[in-house]
Formats: sequence, structure tokens, C-alpha cells
Amino acid sequence: MKKKFDYNAYKKNIINIWNEVAPRYHKRFAQKDIGPFQSTSKLVEFAKIKPGDKVLDIACGTGAVTKKILKKVGLSGMVIGTDVSFNAIKIAKKWNVHKNNLDFLVADAENTFFQKKFDIITCQYGLFFFPNASKVLMNLKKCLKKNGVLAISVHGDKDTVPFFSTILEAIKKFIPDFIPPGTPTFDRFGNKQALRKVVSAAKFKKIKVKEYVFTYNIDSFSDFWNNYLRYVAKPVKVKLNTLSPTEMKKVKELARKNTLRYTDNGKIVFPWKVLILTASKT
Ligand SMILES: C[S@@+](CC[C@H](N)C(=O)[O-])C[C@H]1O[C@@H](n2cnc3c(N)ncnc32)[C@H](O)[C@@H]1O
Repeated sequence: MKKKFDYNAYKKNIINIWNEVAPRYHKRFAQKDIGPFQSTSKLVEFAKIKPGDKVLDIACGTGAVTKKILKKVGLSGMVIGTDVSFNAIKIAKKWNVHKNNLDFLVADAENTFFQKKFDIITCQYGLFFFPNASKVLMNLKKCLKKNGVLAISVHGDKDTVPFFSTILEAIKKFIPDFIPPGTPTFDRFGNKQALRKVVSAAKFKKIKVKEYVFTYNIDSFSDFWNNYLRYVAKPVKVKLNTLSPTEMKKVKELARKNTLRYTDNGKIVFPWKVLILTASKT
């Protein structure tokens, strides 16, 4: 019998994974403006944040976007960052010097509601994690002022983000249920139509989507593979450990084969598609 998507197990897993991964995610990616994080400045730019604005940054992680927003709103503005991961929020608080007009809260976006009305709500690389993304968007709309703006970024379709797909597709050949059925995938809003659809279902207006292809460079396949194994979260490691050494070798070889088209002189240059959407409440 086909297994059904287990919402509670998924939520628990996401919190565990992000609590574990947050410090290395911050160190390797979020605090540097490299690869997909070149989108952070673009997102903040498209949101047209002004001095004095009140901004909510949903699924703020370790505060990469929040930090840039704070600079824009200045002392007369206010920023709140929320995330379901306690450890991510802990890093965000430490990394962003304490200010009276900045707050970070542990909160699940699917149950987040503020009486306060915001001028702008941002969400970078978070939307696809919410099983009920349209419900989140509808709730967020209620937290916006009349002409409030939503600004979101998501990863492109899996073939446009080989950093994820080259290894993942290789593993799935050997562990078909590596990702449990029904699990929200990182690329579910990875094309313009899908992203527009979920945002217009929440009745946002003036929707604009821009696409970017950034690059992410890795010195060699060995670096790519070894870092994957080193940094992967425990629940994923447990699944990988069900493979025999021979199977693991085959996964590695297949992953290597998948990276060849992005490899030149031993160095990998991955393209990384990102979609940035802005929309208005009215
Ligand atoms: C890829 S990170 C992005 C973090 C940050 N926006 C950035 O760009 O660096 C995804 C974040 O989404 C958070 N997240 C996942 N599901 C969530 C939910 N239901 N509510 C709030 N945050 C969630 C994770 O804890 C993680 O910090």
C-alpha cells in the first residue's frame, strides 16, 4: 500500500534538520553573498524597502536577508525575523547586533499571525518547505498593510539547480523512497507558472517574477562529494547508511557522471536558477 504523507513527522524532521544544519548553513552559505545568496540583495532591492518601513522576514534562518533589510529601514523602521528552527534564530540573534527595532522569534510560518501590519513581507528559500504554502500566503496577506508588498525567492526546477539534483538523483536510484512520498520538494515552485499560481491563489495582485541564473563553483568532484557526506543532516545520514559499500560506490560514480557536464578541467561550475517574485496586497 502507498504510504501517505505524514505531516507531523515531516514537521519534526524539518525542525531537527534545521536545528542541526543551521550553524554550517550559515558558515558555508548564508553569511556569504555567493551562489544562490547573490539573490539576497536582489530580493531586498525588488521589495523596495524604504527608511521607516516595518518588515517581516518569514523563515529568516540565520538572518541573511533580515540583516540587509535592517540597513534599509534604518532607525525609524522595524524588522521581525521568524523561523521554526531555534538554532537558526539563535545564530540570527548573535549575528545581528541587538537593536530595539529588530526582533527574532521562533515560529512556524504555518501558524504565524501578527496583529501588527507590515509594509513588506519577505521570504527567501522558505516557501517550498511549507506543506500548505497557499494557506501561509493567505495568512501573510492579512498581516500586510493595504498597499503592502510580498517579496519571495525560490530555487528553480531541479535540472536548473544541479547542486541538489546531481547527488539526489543518484541516491534515489538506489533508495527510491529516500524522500518520503508527498514530501514538499525544493523545486515545487521552480518555474514562473507554478510560483505565480500559488501566489495568485492567495489573491495577491501585480505579481512579477524575475529569473536569475547564478553560478556556484566547487574545486573538484571529491570536494563536492566529501562535503555532502560531511555536512548532510543525521536523518539523511541514517538512510545513506542502509546502503552497502558497493552500492555507495555506485551512487558516487553516478553522481560523478551527473556532474560531468558542469565540469571543466576538474572544476565544477554549477548553474543555479533562482526565481524572485514580488506582489502587492491590493
Ligand atoms: C534554506 S533556509 C533559508 C533561510 C533564510 N531565509 C536565508 O535565506 O538564509 C530555510 C529556512 O526555512 C525554515 N523553515 C522551514 N519550514 C518552516 C516553517 N514551517 N516555518 C518557519 N520556518 C521554516 C528552516 O528552519 C530554515 O531556516
